[in-house]
Amino acid sequence: MNIKPLDAHFGAEVLGVDLGKDLDHAMMQQLTKALYSHRVIVIRDQDLNEHDYLKFGWAWGQPIPHVLDHLRMPGFPEMMTVGNIDKKDQHEAVRNGTVLWHTDQSYEAVPASVTMLYSIKTPETGGETQICNMVAAYQGLDARMKEKLDALLVAHQYGRGKLRPSEYAASPITTTNQHDQLPTFFHPLVMKHHVTGEKGLYAVGQSSYAIKGMGDSDAVTLLEQLKDHVLQEKYIYRHKYRVGDVAIWDTFQTLHSGTKINVATGEPDSRLLWRISVRGKPPIHH
Ligand SMILES: [Fe+2]
Repeated sequence: MNIKPLDAHFGAEVLGVDLGKDLDHAMMQQLTKALYSHRVIVIRDQDLNEHDYLKFGWAWGQPIPHVLDHLRMPGFPEMMTVGNIDKKDQHEAVRNGTVLWHTDQSYEAVPASVTMLYSIKTPETGGETQICNMVAAYQGLDARMKEKLDALLVAHQYGRGKLRPSEYAASPITTTNQHDQLPTFFHPLVMKHHVTGEKGLYAVGQSSYAIKGMGDSDAVTLLEQLKDHVLQEKYIYRHKYRVGDVAIWDTFQTLHSGTKINVATGEPDSRLLWRISVRGKPPIHH
């Protein structure tokens, strides 16, 4: 296995592995170490079926069946397709419902720890995932600001964060059952990583709307100020997928956003990825 830094502000690519055949304890030790230090890793040249991919997902934690159950992959409730070729993708609100800065499952009691996308079809132009390094962004704050933020708890609810003009709203909730599963949950603004203990700013985006013990307008002002800070170019990597990439990011250390895309008209502009988000630690850390 060859792990080398990407030609970018952060991230690494992994060459020379077949996740369908080589998955074992030693490989997961190398991959988890790479993820926790690079925040995002891209494993190239994979050829996986649904079962292989889901098995790999289980090596990182417990795959999460998405609360928006109408978007789950038939037969594989822990997986979703992402792209512009499925029937659901005809709806712009669904297709572009991740085109806003967010952290997966930040609106749930136990958020995701890792998300991965496996690229099956990639358009000739567009279709990038933008990823922000929230550890570097935290480290870029001055000591007084860090101390102030360290103690704060943020209120999260699905889709309730303030949007920027370039952002789409989160994919719509469609049933009362989904709505009932999405009350407010609180998470630390400065998250300590569950394996390394490293600190990063957490989930300033889609779901963050208030701060415990702070007035609403002061809280929104602070959240917006932090969002301006973390979205500086020096903290961002835009991943342009190649077919066969498995891109994995640490959701405690990153914020991410899709990019706007149109419905596919043919093979050259088709986009299809399989998404798995997991919660908890990789079994090798148990
Ligand atoms: Fe996401």
